Amino acid sequence: MRWPTEPATAVCRRPSSTLTDKEFLVNLDLAVLDAYRGLTGTEPEGIWRAPGRINLIGEHTDYNDGFVLPFALPQAAYLAAGRRGDGRIRIVSVDLGETVEYALAELSPGNAGWHSYLAGVFWAMREAGHTVGGADLALASDVPIGAGLSSSAAIECVLVSALNDLYDLGIEPMQRAKLARVTENAYVGAPTGLMDQAASTLCEEGRALFLDCRSLEVEQVPFDPAAHGYAVLVVDTLTRHSHADGEYATRRADCERAAELLGVPALRDVSVEGLDERLEALGDERLVRRARHVVTEDARVLEACTALREDDFRALGELMTASHASMRADYEITEASVDLTVEVALAQGAAGARMTGGGFGGCVLVLAETGQLDAIGTEVTAAFTDSGRKAPPLFVARPAAGAGRLT
Ligand code: GLA
Repeated sequence: MRWPTEPATAVCRRPSSTLTDKEFLVNLDLAVLDAYRGLTGTEPEGIWRAPGRINLIGEHTDYNDGFVLPFALPQAAYLAAGRRGDGRIRIVSVDLGETVEYALAELSPGNAGWHSYLAGVFWAMREAGHTVGGADLALASDVPIGAGLSSSAAIECVLVSALNDLYDLGIEPMQRAKLARVTENAYVGAPTGLMDQAASTLCEEGRALFLDCRSLEVEQVPFDPAAHGYAVLVVDTLTRHSHADGEYATRRADCERAAELLGVPALRDVSVEGLDERLEALGDERLVRRARHVVTEDARVLEACTALREDDFRALGELMTASHASMRADYEITEASVDLTVEVALAQGAAGARMTGGGFGGCVLVLAETGQLDAIGTEVTAAFTDSGRKAPPLFVARPAAGAGRLT
């Protein structure tokens, strides 16, 4: 079987186009160019791209000042953009076939749908004191929505990147990631950490991004499983989540409460040595489990970095599987379809498997020897269809580049 490196599910509606269907589906940069021309009757000033991400390991550690290890995907948001002098924003979504228009002066926080992730970027940049005027924008993305692959961060980051270039702002990459996060937190209202925006902005091709979410120190760790006979297979369970719902926020609140009771600024400050005794002080079984996940997950990220540096894919796989077990039993953010995927993949001999992203569904990444992918894909698909689920889209992920200008 030849494994796709992009999901087969990218849905793009065709605007007034001279492109063939094939070009349209494959070349989202051409799709946004075409849509921009349809919107404005002019050429855009440029086209930008910002990717979705997969988190190899380090889940729900970012807002605890901890460690994460994501890499960027080839799947990405694409934006054709040009400035406007009248303080207005017009946005066309190629995927949805919808157009919206805003006056910059009227922007106010709140989630009004897909376009809030763009409108909020203008708001966040202006709140931060950057001189940003209006723009015409055409957007398309093949990052599956709600699948734990950071579809929203890709949209935010592609616009931050475009406005930074168009208005010649010279904002450093980490600052750009932070502005995208402000959009998500303060405008859209999802209380997420920095990982997704940092990954979309800073990742490099062929590398995973180690990020210390307190110091904001980064290390680009070479990650080339194919060179060692391994691959990361992504299984999209098609179970969908939303970060704006209550579960993410309650996990976050539990962590803050646990840190407060333990007398530390963040759970990052709790050592994995002597953890069980230390957590007894919490006197609350749920808080113990939440804190145990975060502290042990931080330790697993550091071990995973060591495994990557040593090209030890077996060790990496074991850490991934331990991460999943911790998310299932202690953080309680998995659900039946992701647990089923992990179980079947491991039974087929995968080196490791875990859910990625915020939780409650979405994607599972399976680290396996290349020769095992067919059997794993076949068995996972059979397990889904036998249990009345839809066959999950599968693709092989390779570490791609972060946000930037294409033309
Ligand atoms: C979502 C959030 C991130 C991070 C992950 C869980 O993707 O956007 O900030 O908290 O969940 O690791």
